[in-house]
Amino acid sequence: MAKPICKVADIIYVRFELTEFEAQKKYLNHFGMMLAHEDENSIFFRGTGTSPYIYVATKGEENKYIGSAYKANDYSDLEALAKEFNVEIVEITEPGGGHKVTVIDPDGIEVEVCHGMREAEAVAIVSKVINTGESTPRENQTQRFGKGAEEWQLHDDKWVYELTSKVKRLGHTAINCRDAQASVDWYANVLGFISSNNLVAPDGNTMGAFMRCDQGDKPVDHHTINNISLPSPEYPGAYGHAGYEVSDSVDDLMAGHYHLKTVDEYYHEWGIGRHLLGSQMYDYWRDPHGFTHEHWTDGDLMDASVPTDDIGLLEFGKAQYGPPPPATFGHSMPVDQVDKVRAEVPDLFEGVLKDVERMTKAAMEK
Ligand SMILES: [Fe+2]
Repeated sequence: MAKPICKVADIIYVRFELTEFEAQKKYLNHFGMMLAHEDENSIFFRGTGTSPYIYVATKGEENKYIGSAYKANDYSDLEALAKEFNVEIVEITEPGGGHKVTVIDPDGIEVEVCHGMREAEAVAIVSKVINTGESTPRENQTQRFGKGAEEWQLHDDKWVYELTSKVKRLGHTAINCRDAQASVDWYANVLGFISSNNLVAPDGNTMGAFMRCDQGDKPVDHHTINNISLPSPEYPGAYGHAGYEVSDSVDDLMAGHYHLKTVDEYYHEWGIGRHLLGSQMYDYWRDPHGFTHEHWTDGDLMDASVPTDDIGLLEFGKAQYGPPPPATFGHSMPVDQVDKVRAEVPDLFEGVLKDVERMTKAAMEK
């Protein structure tokens, strides 16, 4: 493969346009992010990590995903991108400052590549000590994730678990592609991504990939972008989900699950389970504007030496454990359509997987 234009280091934030902010701010607080900055036209939310923000929305006429931002290691990466795409390097006027270029991927997603953003001060997290059957490092000490029973508060005759997840950072996005191969090639050639897994259809065509940053011998997340093109009557729109790492392991994820579940205001999208590709424990929740966000923890890290592993649809669609995803998973839609879609196509994804599994077995028997 030709040398990529640059090799981004990580993802920083996702950017949306929203018609209103109050419901979204409430959701993001319930989801476990913190408001970093707001003005009349924008909201910026951060995690406990060092990114000044990991989610930004600007006020507009529509509810839509605009794009994602990535971190460049060097200013010269911005220069290379600006030259290749004939775009300007601009000074970032949003929190953190720095410089960026904005280019457009094959599915119309705005890709911001940033350099020189000032880091925020991380919020200190004390990791819990876990006892297992084989190892018991915690002795004479209780295990408390919040305040104990006080975490349960009665609201109008409804018990609400008050402890949220503590989101640390944005880890990846999943995008729906019109042409999976074109998207995979673009992210490889422009941003230097390498495929941890290529998703290969039974006919041998590429249906997508799980791609990670190429940072040489430095281990990085198994995937920073997941490009997917599944059979669908019509293009479902680019945004699948954004996946955020929680600060402190499985209990942090479970706290968020029970908080969002007992608040009882949002659609649960998929989980809790353990992914196969990337190995994360996961839990997905849809926001009030119809976009899905994932809590994850305990993901795989790989350096650039790990070769690409080709996988089939079953490995993509089936978790190591966990429930099947609903038909709405991976599709952005107004929340008032969710029940209707789930009622009409309760097993879209499962149906596809079953068809593929049957086709694969039939082909092998020939
Ligand atoms: Fe994810």
